[in-house]
Amino acid sequence: MEYGFFDEKNREYVIERVDVPVSWTNYLGVEDTCAVINQTAGGYMFHKSPEYHRMTRFRGNAVPMDRPGFDLYLRDTQTKDYWSATWQPVGKPLEQVDYSCRHGLSYSRYFSRYADIETEMRLTIPLGEDVLLWDFTVENAGSQMRELQIFSFCEFSFHGVASDNQNFQMSMYCAGAGYQDGVIEQKMFYEPGKEQYFTASFRPDGYDTLRDSFLGLYHTEQNPEAVLKGQCTGSAEAGNNHCGSFQKNLKLEAGESIRLIFMLGSGNRKKGLRIREKYSNLNRVDQSYRELRDYWDDKLSSLQIQTPDKGMNVLTNTWTLYQAEINVMFSRFASFIEVGGRTGLGYRDTAQDAMCVPHSNPEKCRQRILQLLRALTTRGYGLHLFEPEWFDPDVKPEYADSPTVVPTAEKDRVHKLEQACSDDALWLVPSIVEYVKETGEMEFLKEKVTYADGGEDTVYEHMKRILDFSHEQVGKTGICKGLRADWNDCLNLGGGESALVTFLHYWAISNFLELAEYLQDKAEGWEIDGDIKKYRDMGKQVKKASEQLWDKEWYIRGITKNGKSIGTMEDEQGKVHLESNAWAVLSGAAEPGRGAAAMDSVEKWLYTPYGLQLNAPAYTKRDDDIGFVTRVCPGLKENASVFSHPNPWAWAAECVLGRGDKAVKFYDALCPYYQNDKIEIREAEPYSYCQFIMGKDHECYGRARHPFMTGSGGWAYFAVTHYILGIRPEMDSLLIDPCIPGEWKEFAVKRRWRNAEYQIRVENPDGVMKGIRSVLLDGKEVSEIPQMKEGTVHQIIVRMGGKTDD
Ligand code: GLC
Repeated sequence: MEYGFFDEKNREYVIERVDVPVSWTNYLGVEDTCAVINQTAGGYMFHKSPEYHRMTRFRGNAVPMDRPGFDLYLRDTQTKDYWSATWQPVGKPLEQVDYSCRHGLSYSRYFSRYADIETEMRLTIPLGEDVLLWDFTVENAGSQMRELQIFSFCEFSFHGVASDNQNFQMSMYCAGAGYQDGVIEQKMFYEPGKEQYFTASFRPDGYDTLRDSFLGLYHTEQNPEAVLKGQCTGSAEAGNNHCGSFQKNLKLEAGESIRLIFMLGSGNRKKGLRIREKYSNLNRVDQSYRELRDYWDDKLSSLQIQTPDKGMNVLTNTWTLYQAEINVMFSRFASFIEVGGRTGLGYRDTAQDAMCVPHSNPEKCRQRILQLLRALTTRGYGLHLFEPEWFDPDVKPEYADSPTVVPTAEKDRVHKLEQACSDDALWLVPSIVEYVKETGEMEFLKEKVTYADGGEDTVYEHMKRILDFSHEQVGKTGICKGLRADWNDCLNLGGGESALVTFLHYWAISNFLELAEYLQDKAEGWEIDGDIKKYRDMGKQVKKASEQLWDKEWYIRGITKNGKSIGTMEDEQGKVHLESNAWAVLSGAAEPGRGAAAMDSVEKWLYTPYGLQLNAPAYTKRDDDIGFVTRVCPGLKENASVFSHPNPWAWAAECVLGRGDKAVKFYDALCPYYQNDKIEIREAEPYSYCQFIMGKDHECYGRARHPFMTGSGGWAYFAVTHYILGIRPEMDSLLIDPCIPGEWKEFAVKRRWRNAEYQIRVENPDGVMKGIRSVLLDGKEVSEIPQMKEGTVHQIIVRMGGKTDD
């Protein structure tokens, strides 16, 4: 069953049936302010931190869901009938009102048609300003003059999620709201800097700043008393709960329309007045749309693909990059699943996110990498969850008072080794290498960066500490310890050992060596022979140790602290695991024969039409030596669901093996685009990867949950572009080494790299899956593609096939 479609031309997803089974979300804002919204404009807004600087409220996991939001009501003065510009909160029967929604890149548009009145509301946060614009057009599509009233509603928060949900006495009586000169301002009385405003491009005919006055006793957002009566109450008070509500009375002749702009932002009345002046000018509003469009066009134009796989094209060219970018921008704690209870950066997630989009967002990736380097301890492990402002030299010591950061006490707790996860910092090594390959900024490696626990050293030295930490933290067998968790939050091995981390360590060492060897051979001022020898030896040792992880047909997942192997032939539950097998191959540590056998076992045991399960069969017996995974419901999350994030590891692993048919088979299975017509099963939106899809052991097999904020966005993008299409920047050349299904006859990619454009056509006349016969650069055969002059455009033709003698 379908609820909508991809509008490729406009890069929008169009929701034609707004009564989707779960919220279908979008993210507004690309700088410090963000709004998470759904297909009926429910959602919330924050500045920098969804926990410490919440601007509006959201009652997460509540009944009815997704309230409050950014609501506009219409009321017919003659009939007294009322409805909302989005289906919810009034919720008129869908047979009576025609509602639809278009989620676009950093904006959403909502349409309604009811009783000859047509409306469009567009929500967006423009570049350069911390304000949510509600751009509302209402048109009288009938033949009679109509008298209408428009009411707005949003609910302010008291800044911190905790004070909003737990102890009202410390916030409710310290904040007040009032109206003056067309601006509603909510402020904390004795804490300047914590104001919010709501204003509009018109003089309102009424207002409310108190939530309960607008809604009325025992009313909800569905039937606010002010709307029922057709009159706001003019409420204002020191203390209490606050809202932004304006009333506007309109007379619309037949065919007439009017455009009104509502503005919600952080800042005081003065700022509100400035913003009102700016965006009362409709040209400025339209200009902000063009600016955002250019912003995304520029990012998207850094890589565009044209392959025989439609879903791959639509997602990679727009939606997966969008998802990956949103993860780098806002990290992981702002969604309808995580509604602001955590803040800061997760070490491993951010490190992986930063690896995937340096071509489209080098500045943000660089910033994230620096923040992670500063949150590395001198011993070489990263702080699992940290607030970047703790270590930011540009933030003054009084940061603890800033409304946007985690209290300092937390900082001391997260420093302890017991808090460390074994994989966290390892992800950062390839991210740094990827950043350097993309940008060519070798000087970055010499930049001095502080450590979380004092002292400073270069980026390059930080990388060595990371590798050394994993080298130290090994068990008797030489396999890396699992510590609090490895990539899998629910595999809590402590002193037990993790196959995944061992392979990841091997990968990080290989990445580091590629960089170090280049620096030694080609760059000035690098005398690092000693390092190269040390890490080559370390790599050999790790590879040797990893051989113990082989178990007849696949790699085990780890060893408990009591010496029991996890994921063996003898296991009835948790028999085969995706992470260790994919990483054995992807890291290059697996012997070729074993690698292919391991991935065959993955297909045999873990493949489903919705993607690869993380493990199988599900655990049904609690075993604390393995970890929390054995307590999760079978088929959900880490316990045998199709956990999306590691799926692209398997696509990449298949490409390492040269099996493009399997890589794309696995890609297509997970690809949300291909589930657009199965929403009765999937339920979640088809334009973003979800964290997981319920596995075979669950009665709701195939149902997807937790959209947008998942590492699968970045990794799906990375695996498609770097491995399947095989276009990878190297230290000073651009490698093209695809691994595709034999039946693909050709594909094309436009790739910007270091400010030159490469228009690549790959031809596959012999129907091979891997292997390059020749490369033509602007008509001349070359052995590699060098970095070309900035601003130039080049044609590349790659012919796949076996090498010929001629
Ligand atoms: C969640 C976490 C991530 C972890 C994954 C698997 O997505 O954000 O850090 O790796 O679950 O447990």
